[in-house]
Amino acid sequence: MDNRAQWGTRLGFILAAVGSAVGLGNIWRFPGVAYENGGGAFFLPYLVALLTAGIPILILEFTLGHKYKGSSPLTFARLSKGAEWMGWWQILISFVISTYYAVIVGWAITYSYFSLNLQWGENPGDFLIGEYLQVSDPGVVGSFVPSVLIPLLIVWVIALAILFAGVRKGIEVANKIFIPLLAVLFLIIVIRAMFLPGAMDGVEAFFKPNWDTIFDGKVWVAAYGQIFFSLSIAFAIMITYSSYLPEKSDITNNAFITGFANSSFELLAGFGIFATLGFMAYTSGQPINEVVSTGVGLAFIAIPQVINEMGSFNEVFGVLFFLSLTFAGLSSLISILETYIAAIQEKFNTNRTKAVTVGGGLTVIVSLLFATQGGLNFLDVVDYFINQFGVALSGLFEVVLIAWFLKQLNPLKEHANAISDIQLGSWWNISLKFITPIILGYMMFDLLRQNLT
Ligand code: PHE
Ligand code: NA
Repeated sequence: MDNRAQWGTRLGFILAAVGSAVGLGNIWRFPGVAYENGGGAFFLPYLVALLTAGIPILILEFTLGHKYKGSSPLTFARLSKGAEWMGWWQILISFVISTYYAVIVGWAITYSYFSLNLQWGENPGDFLIGEYLQVSDPGVVGSFVPSVLIPLLIVWVIALAILFAGVRKGIEVANKIFIPLLAVLFLIIVIRAMFLPGAMDGVEAFFKPNWDTIFDGKVWVAAYGQIFFSLSIAFAIMITYSSYLPEKSDITNNAFITGFANSSFELLAGFGIFATLGFMAYTSGQPINEVVSTGVGLAFIAIPQVINEMGSFNEVFGVLFFLSLTFAGLSSLISILETYIAAIQEKFNTNRTKAVTVGGGLTVIVSLLFATQGGLNFLDVVDYFINQFGVALSGLFEVVLIAWFLKQLNPLKEHANAISDIQLGSWWNISLKFITPIILGYMMFDLLRQNLT
């Protein structure tokens, strides 16, 4: 354990944690989720979810990693002999996410390049589905689509090169480059977007509160789901990253910084995306609610449509947007892979190079499925199940296991308090013991009910 890798600096760790958190979830998921769940009113459940689940669980995971100094399975095994499965379950979810997350990063790289000559033409929707992804009938696996396959392989070369280089020389260095760069690029495009005609109408629509749905369980489920996905919690990631912390580390403070940085980025993306959608409504003459989209449709159809209409320097806007997506995605991608690279290393007592080769190799092979003609269909299905069940279930298992079965909240709290400036009080216990399990339990119940009827 003496030669365990360590972050070089506190900033290095924070940038890596922020790099994992800030990803596609901030840019393409948050703005639409907030809009559809009450706009300005969504900030209430969102803040509650951040303060009762997001940050408390982040503190919990940072403490676990720092105290037990292991990958997620080893950390849970050290916590209690019978708990190792919890770590492997989290890793299974991370593995599945990594196989398709990489594919989307590959698209983003390609679209950075396509931006140079607006390759998507007059009709970006038809281009994406018909020409670029060559989507075939659902359920049919066609042949490889070279325009998807080649960028995917480029993503893997970059990601694995970073992971081969190690925690300090690879992950830390990469995030020290990606994250400041991402912040600057994204700030430029948000500011540019705010000056588009109609931008303010978009931003106003985004913040306009709809309080009617505030007691709707769905809205709360959406808030908790967004927080879990967005903060990369319950996926073994933050446990793994914090296992590389030096002895003297301010756990609680780091968790607050990571949580607020991620939410700030989300808010910034909300401004940028809705300014852009406001412009789209303005040029097309449609109402805002008709042009709102999220996910693949937002990034690869709506944004290219807007770029077509933007006038001077629109190519630059396109390049900056898709490069932002690329950097945000890459830094999250390497964090997901690191969970099982660390676990393989410890479980099989092998070195980093072999673990990256085996773990990374397996991921690359599975990810190829999504670079086929039917790839988008699979991606949709897998993404749906991961987001609906994987995320909440994993979080629920984790808090119930630690708070109720192993009764470890107080020892962990003492560990965090001994090394942190901010002292955890009963807010932390109450959040993890009662509030989060009740809300996540309700989420699972509600989802099962919806899926069974
Ligand atoms: N937190 C990342 C985002 O917001 C997504 C992510 C999820 C990263 C799970 C790693 C693991 O996009
Ligand atoms: Na995020």
